[in-house]
Amino acid sequence: MKKFFCLFAAILLLTAMTSCAKQPESDKKSSVVVGFSQLGAESSWRIANTESMEKAAKEAGFGLMMENANQKQEKQIDAIRSFIAYQVDVIVFSPIVESGWENILKEALNSGIPVILMDRMISNPEENFYTTYIGADFYAEGRRAGEYLIRKANAINAERMNIVEISGTIGSTPMRDRQRGFMDAIKDDPRFNVIDSICGDFLRSMGGECMEYMLYKHGADAIDVIYSHNDSMTLGVLDVLEQKNIQPGKDIILITVDGEKEAVDALKAGKINCVVQCTPDLGPSVMELVRKLKAGEQVPRIKHPEEGIFCDFDDLSDPAVEGF
Ligand code: AHR
Repeated sequence: MKKFFCLFAAILLLTAMTSCAKQPESDKKSSVVVGFSQLGAESSWRIANTESMEKAAKEAGFGLMMENANQKQEKQIDAIRSFIAYQVDVIVFSPIVESGWENILKEALNSGIPVILMDRMISNPEENFYTTYIGADFYAEGRRAGEYLIRKANAINAERMNIVEISGTIGSTPMRDRQRGFMDAIKDDPRFNVIDSICGDFLRSMGGECMEYMLYKHGADAIDVIYSHNDSMTLGVLDVLEQKNIQPGKDIILITVDGEKEAVDALKAGKINCVVQCTPDLGPSVMELVRKLKAGEQVPRIKHPEEGIFCDFDDLSDPAVEGF
C-alpha cells in the first residue's frame, strides 16, 4: 500500500512539473488586463487602429480583452458591461457616436475602473465619466482641409467653387468636428458654396453610392470640389469618377482625411489633391496611459497626436510622404 502511495505521489509530481514546463509564454496571466471596445471595422483606418492596439498591448505585456461592436452602439454597451463584470484594470473605448453613454459610464464610474476614451469623444465631456481622452483634434483636421482649399482656389484663380461634402457617421466626433472646422475655415470667403452634404458612414461602398447620387442630382459640371471625411469613402468616389471618365484631381478637386496608403498613392498619381492626416497608431500612447494609471501617476485630461497634411503643393517624392 505504501509503495502504491509513493508511486501515485511521484506521478502527480511529474504531471505537475511537465504541465508547468509546457505552459506557453502567451498563456501566462498578465497582471494588467485592458478591456477594449472597438467600434467596428468600417475603414482601413479602423483596421490599422485595432492592429496598433493589439501590438502595443503585447509589447507592454498587458492582456487585451477586445470586443468589436460591428458599428452597433448596443454591442459597445454590452462589451463595457462585461469588462466591468470581469473587473478589468482599465477600460478603453472608442464611442461610435457621442450620445447615449451616460448609464453605462455611470456603472463604470461606480465600479472604480478608469475609462480611457480613444479616438472619439462623448457628448458630455465635462462629466467625470472618463479619466483621459487620446485622439485626433478633428476640428483642426477640418480647418486644415478648408485652409488647403483656400490656397488651391488662390493658386488656380477660382472665382467660385461648388463643394459637395461626403460626411462620416452622423453624430460621431470626426463627422461633427471635421464639418465644423472646414466650414469655419471657408465661411468668410464668398467664393465657396457648399451645395450639398450627404452621409457615407465612413464606408468605401457608401462613398461610391453617394458620388453616384450627387452626380445624378447636380451633374458633374456643377461640382468643383468633393470634401470627404475619410479615405475609404474617397476611394469609393474615385472608382465612380473613373468609371464615368471624370478625371479626379483635375475635373473635380478631392480633399480627404486619414492618410492610408491607397489614398496617398492616389495623391501621388494626381487623382487626389489633399490628404489631411489622421493617425490610427494610438496603441502605444494608450498603453502608456494604462501604465501611468496603474502606477498612480497623473495623466492629462486630453492628448492629441501631431498631424499635418499632404497635398499637391508638396514635394511628393519626399520619402516622408507615405501612408499607413
Ligand atoms: O474616428 C476616426 C475615423 O473613423 C477615421 O477617419 C475613419 O476612417 C474611421 O472610420
